[in-house]
Amino acid sequence: MTEFSHNDAQRAAMLLTASIKSVTLYPQAHPAVRQPLQELTCIFEARLRRKPELHLGVVEGVLFIEGHIFVTPNSAVAELADRFSSRRIEGLTIYEGVTTDDLFRFASLLAVRDISGEEIFARLEESGVRTLRLGIDQLIYGDSADLEGSAPSQTYKDALNAVRDTMREIENGRIPAGDKINAVVDNMVSMTIKDHTTLLGLSMIKDYDNYTFNHSVNVGILSLSLAAYLGMDRTTLHDINTAGLLHDIGKTRIDKKILNKPGKLSDAEYEVMKQHAEKGAEIVAAMKDIDPCVSDAVLGHHIKYNRTGYPEWARGRGFGAMADIVAVADCYDAITTLRSYSMPTLPKPALDIMGRLAGTSLNSEYVSKFGEMMGRYPVGTLVRLDNNEIALVVRPHPMESEIPAVKIIFDANGEVLPKPRVASLAAKDGARYASIVATVDPILKNVDVGRCFST
Ligand SMILES: [Fe+2]
Ligand SMILES: [Fe+2]
Repeated sequence: MTEFSHNDAQRAAMLLTASIKSVTLYPQAHPAVRQPLQELTCIFEARLRRKPELHLGVVEGVLFIEGHIFVTPNSAVAELADRFSSRRIEGLTIYEGVTTDDLFRFASLLAVRDISGEEIFARLEESGVRTLRLGIDQLIYGDSADLEGSAPSQTYKDALNAVRDTMREIENGRIPAGDKINAVVDNMVSMTIKDHTTLLGLSMIKDYDNYTFNHSVNVGILSLSLAAYLGMDRTTLHDINTAGLLHDIGKTRIDKKILNKPGKLSDAEYEVMKQHAEKGAEIVAAMKDIDPCVSDAVLGHHIKYNRTGYPEWARGRGFGAMADIVAVADCYDAITTLRSYSMPTLPKPALDIMGRLAGTSLNSEYVSKFGEMMGRYPVGTLVRLDNNEIALVVRPHPMESEIPAVKIIFDANGEVLPKPRVASLAAKDGARYASIVATVDPILKNVDVGRCFST
């Protein structure tokens, strides 16, 4: 799927690490500094000839460069991930025109102890470097032309911005009113009422740089789609969608060291992490123009169906359907997303895992309806068609699970299509485009599923 190979990404990480080390020992003109930086510039330049910007960063301790993720890093990659994490550089964008000088300045600043990412980039700007910027704007991957005029994609971006703004305000000590969230929710609900599958494919967008924001929007979409599939009324859909978007808002009040810790939390840390449910409920209750039932669902999103979850003190309380629906959506998005301690699970096995949790952690009826809604080939599944093309399921058929809409990625000869083509497998004029014959492991085909969901 990409001309920028995993080896290129790994090589770039190693060269940057080597440069950071050598800039502290030698002057810029020394070969030990110049050579790795020149090679790094060449790798970036080659990539930037094909697309105007390049992204790298760290999420939960895992380094990513473009679509490549280093879950089991070598020591140089781990060192770079560590440097980024400790400076809170979650993501950075490198633009066309980046020079060896720019990268030298960047490597020199990364070599400084006790300097924050923000300071690094402020200093780069001061010294006139315009090709490196903290943060990543392009949240939805793929051909940008695909995004134009795409109402669902724009709505996804709006939701992401609303969640991000809300979380930032809370982090800055203010409780925002619910108007921004309400505006985007109104839009999402209207789209979903027309067809509950409209936004579903977008929930497969996984942005490793902004896990919490993306996870929140995805849980919002999945909760909303399930509630719409269950036939709930507009007001309930609005509240459920809001609860999904805000369910983890309490994480803004959890120590970042615990929140971003890679791997397993200690018992004491887990106790702190658990507080996000009640802290979130308090925040939501204080937000103007948000119905109190949303706060209740936020409080109960980890309470579990059999009420053995947390907060412990709330186990005896009656929670409505909303908490159970958000819990199902939360579980699905969490297991289908890369985490620092596990690879993402494919949609179908994820549904199987949820099946095993039904009746104890999760509400059985909602799990089964969720599976039914996703269909036999859930969104995000790679499939082989009987005409030998390989395609990604992007949207379930609202009624028939065997005939979803797909995005064709490989032609019948196994060649990658320069521009994937969307096709509905439903019959038109009595003739069906093609039928699914098998599922295919995306790893074997080097397909980055999350990146394919650009429309
Ligand atoms: Fe949570
Ligand atoms: Fe969550």
